[in-house]
Amino acid sequence: MKILFASSEAHPFIKTGGLADVSGSLPNALVALKHKVRLVLPAYQAVLKKLPAKEIKKVAEVSVSGCGKTYSAQVLQVKVGAVKGIDFPVWLVDIPELFDRPGNPYLAADGTDWWDNGERFAIFSMVVNELAMNRAGLKWQPDVVHANDWQTGLVPALLSLEEDAPKTVFTIHNMAYPGNFPKSLFDSLRLPWQLWGMEGAEFYGHFSMLKAGLIKADWVSTVSPTYAKEICFPEFAYGLEGVLQKREIEGRLTGIINGIDEHVWNPATDNLIVQNYSAKKGRIAGKLANKKALLSELCILRGEKEKKSLERLSSCMDKPLIGLVGRLVEQKGMDLVLEIMPELIQQTNANFVIVGTGDKVFEAQVRTLSQKYPHRVWAFIGYSESLAHRVEAGADMFLMPSRFEPCGLNQMYSLAYGTPPIVHHTGGLADSVVNATDENIKAGTATGFVFYDPSRHALKSTILHALHLFGKRRTWQKIQKTGMELSLDWKHSAKKYIELYSEIK
Ligand code: ADP
Ligand code: GLC
Repeated sequence: MKILFASSEAHPFIKTGGLADVSGSLPNALVALKHKVRLVLPAYQAVLKKLPAKEIKKVAEVSVSGCGKTYSAQVLQVKVGAVKGIDFPVWLVDIPELFDRPGNPYLAADGTDWWDNGERFAIFSMVVNELAMNRAGLKWQPDVVHANDWQTGLVPALLSLEEDAPKTVFTIHNMAYPGNFPKSLFDSLRLPWQLWGMEGAEFYGHFSMLKAGLIKADWVSTVSPTYAKEICFPEFAYGLEGVLQKREIEGRLTGIINGIDEHVWNPATDNLIVQNYSAKKGRIAGKLANKKALLSELCILRGEKEKKSLERLSSCMDKPLIGLVGRLVEQKGMDLVLEIMPELIQQTNANFVIVGTGDKVFEAQVRTLSQKYPHRVWAFIGYSESLAHRVEAGADMFLMPSRFEPCGLNQMYSLAYGTPPIVHHTGGLADSVVNATDENIKAGTATGFVFYDPSRHALKSTILHALHLFGKRRTWQKIQKTGMELSLDWKHSAKKYIELYSEIK
């Protein structure tokens, strides 16, 4: 089968979150199953800067019109093998006036959305439509086009109007980002009128690119079975529950849990950590060297002199270290974490390491805590892929109390790294972590700690339970080992995607 995978980010080209991890690794897994895949991404400035000129070549030029302009897009192909871990051709859609900008794919330097995000991704989707219809002279006709999130929501919609179009799958990674714009954008893009209205991209008079994808794709999927059920309820669907209920009744809404890229996230081979380790007898002890190195790195990052920080380290080594890496936003339950941290610091011997960026208020609160309790809280406010690996390897447990979580990758990385996750029972967290109840521990299935009500009390008592079990070394190691031995890679889920692609008539 030939699959065109369209996304607005993909690791290691450009990443703001889990969508990039999925777009960089699911195509590899499809290739491993003997399918042919092309990934198409916008040619952001940061992507082009990373790639040596000899590794990319222009393979086509496509023109599309919208917003009173004609955009000429160059399609650049990245050589297979040029980027480690990417085993398929990647097409970069180069439209300098839309994508040759510094920084983040979605945000300007001041943290606000680019003023023309609607136009940028609508035009990108129009180019993807041309590629999907094999009209760019690339002599490659996909059987399936797999679009992801609102940025490519128009792709299935545009293809629904084409004769002999490939089949379309639209995957929701997060319903909280609807890609809503004024109706005037729809008009100025001169999109076909058939795409407007209740059975199209109209959402209470606005233009929703997410809804366009949800309604017009042949099949809708999301990134965990539990989230697929949750989004049929208003609490998780922000007004689009009716559309999703309809797709579910048609049997065209599926939840497939994400896999992890075992070449990137594997403690036995990870070269971003100081010592490799695995669940094999005795080797899990290698985690301790990572804890020591992480604490020392964090002290040095804070500007402490090495001698002073080394003294501090010895007193921290036997105390539980709770890690958190992620977007510091309400989705991730940051408000709950920040509410209970002072109590936990006073009432327990746990230490914390927090790595993330996001809401400025949360960032400031994390900074304040780390200044107030410098011996207990280490914070890195910023984005660091390599530090994220070292937190997974060096922390004893991982905090992910998301209010909702379509899938979540960090809890899976934590499982693989022997860092039992503490999670709220929602979305992919519910599907991937087995609570350490007495029964589950006895049965040898427990992998982490789960709370069922997103309240500070439930979170706090679950953390206290985890801290209690941390003191019982044999039980703790059993929980670590059970998680590390799970098979979390893409094999199983990639097969499910192939089954899904094949099922579409
Ligand atoms: P989401 O996509 O909702 O942010 P996921 O758990 O699916 O959540 O994926 C988040 C990804 O982004 C993980 O690979 C995580 O390690 C990474 N990540 C998030 N914030 C940071 C950060 N500040 N530094 C490094 N990696 C980060
Ligand atoms: C989104 C979700 C996250 C998911 C990721 C990849 O960013 O918030 O839960 O893991 O997409 O599918």
